[in-house]
Amino acid sequence: MRHPFWRLFVFLLVAVWPLYWLYQAWSFALGPDPGKVLVERLGLGALILLLITLSMTPLQKLSGWSGWMAVRRQLGLWCFAYGVLHLAAYAVFILGLDWSQLAVELRKRPYIIVGAIALFGLLLLALTSNRYSQRRLGKAWKKLHRLIYLILPLGLLHMLWIVRADLEEWAIYAVVGGVLLLLRIPALMRRIPRIVGAGQKVQQK
Ligand code: HEM
Repeated sequence: MRHPFWRLFVFLLVAVWPLYWLYQAWSFALGPDPGKVLVERLGLGALILLLITLSMTPLQKLSGWSGWMAVRRQLGLWCFAYGVLHLAAYAVFILGLDWSQLAVELRKRPYIIVGAIALFGLLLLALTSNRYSQRRLGKAWKKLHRLIYLILPLGLLHMLWIVRADLEEWAIYAVVGGVLLLLRIPALMRRIPRIVGAGQKVQQK
């Protein structure tokens, strides 16, 4: 396995946040509604991890360092794990595990349906992220994993629906997400190494 320490470092760095937030909730450091704060932090964490996962390929192209690709799958799985924790926190702290309220909740918060579709997409990608599925699905694997380009806009839409008036933070994620999606266009992707190459040539002069 390549880059074992780097992988472990990334694992610990991402694993520590939910534990830290739980500790904060336990010690009354999350304000009067810790459950809501936990739901928000885990949701934002899932979105940020999605953006970080998508930035691994461009970073590898830019730097030539294989370490970025070595952690891409792990980061994608973490994004799904944060999404599941986000859903679990919602079910416990907002829904109070009272499933009879779900229909009312869906009418009150229709953005949940968008979040649920995005999470279902992440589930499909997580289930097929192993080498066995990659071999079995062949060309269809690549097509299936393009779902990520649908999941990101859904995640952004879900967040936009919630933040509405407070657009500044959302706009940052949307712009980063937009750039990352643009970079997946093959013609643009091919230009990345040339940009670095051009920079190096200028430095050599
Ligand atoms: C079944 C799945 C999901 C449910 C039930 C759900 C539910 C919620 C709820 C209720 C909130 C608002 C909490 C509040 O009142 O402030 C929220 C916020 C959020 N969710 Fe989800 N969500 C789901 C999936 C996702 C997924 C897959 C992502 C990311 C890819 C995501 C990202 C976010 C973000 C970024 C926020 C806003 C956090 C903030 O206000 O800073 N959610 N979600």
